Amino acid sequence: MKTLAVMSRKGGAGKTTVAVNLTLAARAAGVKAVLADADPLRSACEVLREREEAASLLFETGAAKLFALTEACRRSGAELLIIDTPAAPEADVAEAVKVADLCLAVSRPTYLDLAAAVRSVAIIQRLGREGVVALNQCAPRRNGVEPPQVLKAFEALRFAGLPVAGTALRSRVVYQTAFAQRRSVLEIEGADRASDEVRALFAEVWKRLSGEKPAPVRTANDDLGRPWMAARPAGLTFVQPPA
Ligand SMILES: Nc1ncnc2c1ncn2[C@@H]1O[C@H](COP(=O)(O)OP(=O)(O)OP(=O)(O)O)[C@@H](O)[C@H]1O
Ligand SMILES: [Mg+2]
Repeated sequence: MKTLAVMSRKGGAGKTTVAVNLTLAARAAGVKAVLADADPLRSACEVLREREEAASLLFETGAAKLFALTEACRRSGAELLIIDTPAAPEADVAEAVKVADLCLAVSRPTYLDLAAAVRSVAIIQRLGREGVVALNQCAPRRNGVEPPQVLKAFEALRFAGLPVAGTALRSRVVYQTAFAQRRSVLEIEGADRASDEVRALFAEVWKRLSGEKPAPVRTANDDLGRPWMAARPAGLTFVQPPA
């Protein structure tokens, strides 16, 4: 079993959005994924607890219980455990980092979020874990052109020497409406672009977790318009959610 901790020291960066969507994307791809909500605010539970499969999908937990929960999930045959963490305090988040094979630091492409991402990665590295930064709530490309703010964010992360996921999630209302319907964006009709970017981010994360060579750090000079979904997880087929 692989464990992914989704974290950010900034409130509202999109930890819960990323954690919930990745968990449901993993399950749609045939991976036995479960989500641990380690945030006392219980936002992930709020979204998922009324789903039919909630009992096999979702765990309420806390920092002190994470190690035991990880072992229980491993024994029960889960293939992927995703942990949604609170913004603070650091000691609680550190418990999630310690049990994680990979930490995903979520950051909006803003100065303060990026500064927080640098601090998150410092914690991850201090604890000897693997980390990658994923940008969320980025303005969409216009006519295939990446907005300057997003280019600058990739550039800032490159200068900080941080690994960064090639897939940036865009700011799209469907991320909010999907939660209101207790769903991931993959389960919303017509949300093709959001679904594609979530699948692409899952593919990148899964590739790193599966021990394949990590994707190189991306830079602003790279072609950010590349269709990332060319690299789906080996042997996995994405199934269409029911209409
Ligand atoms: N890519 C996106 N596009 C549009 N809205 C988004 C996106 N990502 C997150 N949001 C919205 O931003 C708000 C904060 O997101 P979310 O709750 O996922 O952040 P968080 O980091 O988990 O926050 P907290 O620190 O409170 O746990 C929510 O209303 C969510 O729907
Ligand atoms: Mg949250």
